[in-house]
Amino acid sequence: MAAPTLTVIDNRTGKKVDLPIENGAIRATDLAQLGIVSYDPALINTAACKSKVSYIDGERGILRYRGYPIEALAEQSSFLETAYLIVKGELPTTSHFRMWQHNIKTHTLIHENLKHFIEGFRYDAHPMGILIGTVGALSTFYPEAKHVLDLESRRMQTRRLIGKMPTMAAFAYRHSRGLPYVYPDNDLSYTGNFLSMMFRMTELKYRPDPVLENALDVLFILHADHEQNCSTTTMRTIGSSLADPYVAVAGAAAALAGPRHGSANEEVVHMLHEIGSKDRVPALIKQVKSGERRLMGFGHRVYKNYDPRAKIIKRIAHQVFEVTGKNPLIDIALELERIALEDEYFVSRRLYPNVDFYSGIIYEAMSLPLPMFPVLFAIARTSGWMAQWAELILDEEQKITRPKQVYVGYDERNYVPLDQRRDGGALETEVYGPL
Ligand code: ACO
Repeated sequence: MAAPTLTVIDNRTGKKVDLPIENGAIRATDLAQLGIVSYDPALINTAACKSKVSYIDGERGILRYRGYPIEALAEQSSFLETAYLIVKGELPTTSHFRMWQHNIKTHTLIHENLKHFIEGFRYDAHPMGILIGTVGALSTFYPEAKHVLDLESRRMQTRRLIGKMPTMAAFAYRHSRGLPYVYPDNDLSYTGNFLSMMFRMTELKYRPDPVLENALDVLFILHADHEQNCSTTTMRTIGSSLADPYVAVAGAAAALAGPRHGSANEEVVHMLHEIGSKDRVPALIKQVKSGERRLMGFGHRVYKNYDPRAKIIKRIAHQVFEVTGKNPLIDIALELERIALEDEYFVSRRLYPNVDFYSGIIYEAMSLPLPMFPVLFAIARTSGWMAQWAELILDEEQKITRPKQVYVGYDERNYVPLDQRRDGGALETEVYGPL
């Protein structure tokens, strides 16, 4: 059978070309022979890499890491095992897993100077800002990380980053509360140790509640990777210049900080508090439908069916509430979901709850403070960022990321000396947007 092709005819010139189709994609560079580029703001229909890390079928609501369904991993795996799977491509054997746990745990401490660096932030600094700055600063502590083509260096920075992210995250929180920092306790699980660094007070040994520890571990699994999302794309873009992984993770975390991405769960909880009671849900739906605001935690670029992670989180919420007592926000969220899923506006746009719709409610019930929500996301996503970064480094087809633009500005103009200029150039509102 002939190799599949796409025939393109340029009706301006009559020129016809056959473009090979590989893995359901044509190469945008093949369009160059027609002298045209593909224009795709927000990269909605552009694949910029080949990846083996995670697979999403947005129509059927499927998410797999390295081929394993998210439901099976949430049910049977642990975050550290899933991180191994994501980073190394296979589930570990017992001895490999033991070694991996040891390797991550030996990197949970941070340099004391980094602690002083965190102390330099204002008392009310947002922990996501602290995390972004601190992880970027790690680059100066490990200058050898610039050897990105060296396998051993990549392995070392991966262990360090997965090991240190919870420590930096917890220190950021303790700083904002004026509490002394709690050093890692490596007898505990990855998630248990994080809870200890967050919440331990004067007790000699912090013992996390097993249900809450497991719930957070599952949430970490669900957030570990999600193919070419905004922050991962940022990680790859920065990585493509061969910058070291610490500054690349700082950039990825910065992309995650926005309300359309990793801060959506924080926004969901603000929104639910603002609604306050079930009877006020219809008024919010009205505002959303009139375009005044978005329903946070709803909608997804890829999922046009229920986000499979949201289903798992909804189940976990009930387990958490048995320990913490019910978070009353859940009733408002369920009512919001019920009304939205019956409403033509949401149905026709295929807007369903995403991972962030319920995660914030669980975090809040666990007494994890709101500004920490995107930080929790960043801890979990570090394994995905590192796996995708390594894939990029090894991909011989990749070069420095440098997209084209469609220039729509002025043609060449003569420079006019200052004293001869009159009004009449571009309006400020055209450049900065409406006042
Ligand atoms: N509430 C109301 N309307 C929405 C929402 C929403 N949450 N999301 C999308 N829409 C509407 C848009 O207004 C648009 O309607 P129109 O066709 O009448 O103009 C249509 O649905 C398509 O929306 P887009 O913005 O084109 O969708 P896109 O794929 O670019 O955006 C995104 C995806 C950013 C997630 C969006 O759905 C959104 O802003 N959701 C709220 C924020 C959120 O929950 N983010 C977390 C995403 S998951 C994650 O990052 C972990």
